[in-house]
Amino acid sequence: MSRIAYVMGRYVVHRDGGVSIEDRGFQFADGVYEVIALTNGRFLDEAAHLERLGRSLAELRIVPPMSDRALMQVMRETMRRNGLKNGSIYIQITRGSAPREHGFPASLPPTVVMTAKRGKPVDPRLLQDGAKVILIPDIRWGRCDIKTVGLLPNTLGKQTAREAGAFEAWQVDRDGFVTEGTSTNAWMVNAAGEIITHPANHRILGGVTRGSILALLRREGLPISERPFTVDDLRGAGEAFLTSTISMVIPVVTVDGRAIGDGKPGPMTRRLQELYNAHAKETTA
Ligand SMILES: Cc1ncc(COP(=O)(O)O)c(C=O)c1O
Repeated sequence: MSRIAYVMGRYVVHRDGGVSIEDRGFQFADGVYEVIALTNGRFLDEAAHLERLGRSLAELRIVPPMSDRALMQVMRETMRRNGLKNGSIYIQITRGSAPREHGFPASLPPTVVMTAKRGKPVDPRLLQDGAKVILIPDIRWGRCDIKTVGLLPNTLGKQTAREAGAFEAWQVDRDGFVTEGTSTNAWMVNAAGEIITHPANHRILGGVTRGSILALLRREGLPISERPFTVDDLRGAGEAFLTSTISMVIPVVTVDGRAIGDGKPGPMTRRLQELYNAHAKETTA
């Protein structure tokens, strides 16, 4: 079956989809995006994703191209036209097309593109056995909280991880703190059982999955601390894991080739996988 995308008001097969060469997304990475998982025909944590999309647009002063209601309708229609009940949707909104110039016109119709992906993207073996992570310097800009399409440090970092035989690269800032992965949030559990993740400030993307996990941890009365942790803290961790819409909760078993804890997924990570799966099931039933 052909893959259908929504492009500027039309549903088209991918090869017929196109945007202007003067689109500012293409010229300057002047745009934002969201990824939302679809399970059993329902979008997981849809409201939180749309809220973050609205925030990303506002931070870049891009006027929302349509209401959330209209976006939700297009999301559903895109999945329907692709015959998908499980998978994910990518929503990309750029500032629009204008003659190339760094400054931008005050009002420009934004470009909206949605594409659908089939099936469960995460390898079940990773969920079960855990993933290898490497550490790389965090070379990104000062507003990592905005989900922009400007992902070059992230794509280069992920490629470095791949070439090192690892699943993900965790980024380390100039002060020696682990910020987050290239497409995932980073977590560790210390010897006292405290679950630690970087605070949601300008240095990381406030993951929707991160938010759901924090809510589940609070509901269960488990000890959480939103504070930066160092590479040394991580080396001494009992457990580590990463989270994202696509990866859900993946145990991290080695960092730069050194085992975390006993080198196997830990009990807290397993518990969080169960809690998150239950959350996903309940909210998409
Ligand atoms: C840099 C970065 N951090 C964290 C995440 C996880 O965010 P979410 O849980 O909303 O998928 C992503 C997801 O794409 C990301 O790109």
